[in-house]
Amino acid sequence: MRCMTATAALAVLAGLSVTMSEAAEISISCGAVGLELELCQEGADRWAEATGNQVEVISTPNSATERLALYQQILAANSSDIDVFQIDVIWPGILASHFIDLGDYVDEQTRAQHFSAIVDNNTVDGRFVAMPWFTDAGLLYYRTDLLEKYGKQPPATWEELAASAKEIQDAERAAGNDKMWGFVFQAKAYEGLTCDALEWVDSFGGGAIVAEDGSITIDNDKAAAALDMAATWIGDIAPEGVLNYAEEEARGVFQSGNAVFMRNWPYAWALGQAEDSAIKGKIGVSALPRGGADGKNTGVLGGWQLAVSKYSENPDLAADLVNYLTGYDEQKRRAIEGSYNPTIAALYQDEDVLATVPFFGSLYDTFTNAVARPSKVTGAKYNQVSSEFFNAAHDVLSGKSDGASRLAALADKLDRLSRGGRW
Ligand code: GLC
Repeated sequence: MRCMTATAALAVLAGLSVTMSEAAEISISCGAVGLELELCQEGADRWAEATGNQVEVISTPNSATERLALYQQILAANSSDIDVFQIDVIWPGILASHFIDLGDYVDEQTRAQHFSAIVDNNTVDGRFVAMPWFTDAGLLYYRTDLLEKYGKQPPATWEELAASAKEIQDAERAAGNDKMWGFVFQAKAYEGLTCDALEWVDSFGGGAIVAEDGSITIDNDKAAAALDMAATWIGDIAPEGVLNYAEEEARGVFQSGNAVFMRNWPYAWALGQAEDSAIKGKIGVSALPRGGADGKNTGVLGGWQLAVSKYSENPDLAADLVNYLTGYDEQKRRAIEGSYNPTIAALYQDEDVLATVPFFGSLYDTFTNAVARPSKVTGAKYNQVSSEFFNAAHDVLSGKSDGASRLAALADKLDRLSRGGRW
């Protein structure tokens, strides 16, 4: 040591400090919708404590569309700033090349505990690029007290929903609650509108924009009628402002007691049932209505995964954090505290989980049969497909266009984008 230069000595010391303590700081990007950030932080802290490492939790924009843009910027710069990315179920095909293959870190037995459709979704060209963390499906929330007061059942069809929403809204307003609305949902021009609009379209039998074989199916009468129907709700049973609502804006209106019905994801349950909620104990949850008497109850498949950046300086530790957060105990805690749907099938039989979120049992089929957005077949182009679709839906909802002509234009766009359906 004595004959070493100062720089060499420092280098040795730096090396030593890594090998001796082995502690590192891992950063993870987490969503912040509802209780997400808090639950992510708590889980990460537990792992940090158990392993002697540190975790920095980085909050990301609520809008999936904005979050993707941010991730693309960070990843395109090959930045090592974020080790673990929380990614949407629709992104493996877009972002796969930036993530390591978790197949080397997750044994077969562990993988097999998770819903196989999600594991398949997260496997791109044979590489398992993301561990399932929680799944999602669009649901209908309703006010049990108001439905009872007006002698209504949860609606079986969208037509019934609109009729009950109108009747209850008008009666409640006449009784002095002038802030009451019939129905709130997500109609801002972003990924969330792709989900809501696809639910309307598919519930009428109008398909899922692009079929599994790549053909563009969106230009059809049923899809056009579904969008035209939703356009009649704006300003009538839904506030004009819904054209700028994402999940949290809809929840805000519903949870403060000012809406009869809401379309949202399962996370809204835990918050609506919390002590400080104006509607605690007054919430019912069902599958979304059918499109007409012979339509389907379509809920779109959502959900989030954890992936490790290939630019991470600590991929082994990052993968260890991913295994911890996606494991049984953490998924159970998140289900109970935040009503985040587990991706581990056995947790849908867990009594503690079912006691706090009864619809995880009663709506099990809604979760396992949820309709996927066409992200697998459109691959790296999915985000463009979705942007084209939500912009078209937004134009129809805001009265700029009608369903049939706007969907014909959309189909032309998608045809060019895919060079005739060859994604
Ligand atoms: C939820 C879903 C996600 C979807 C997003 C749209 O977070 O889990 O899949 O893309 O909502 O707003």
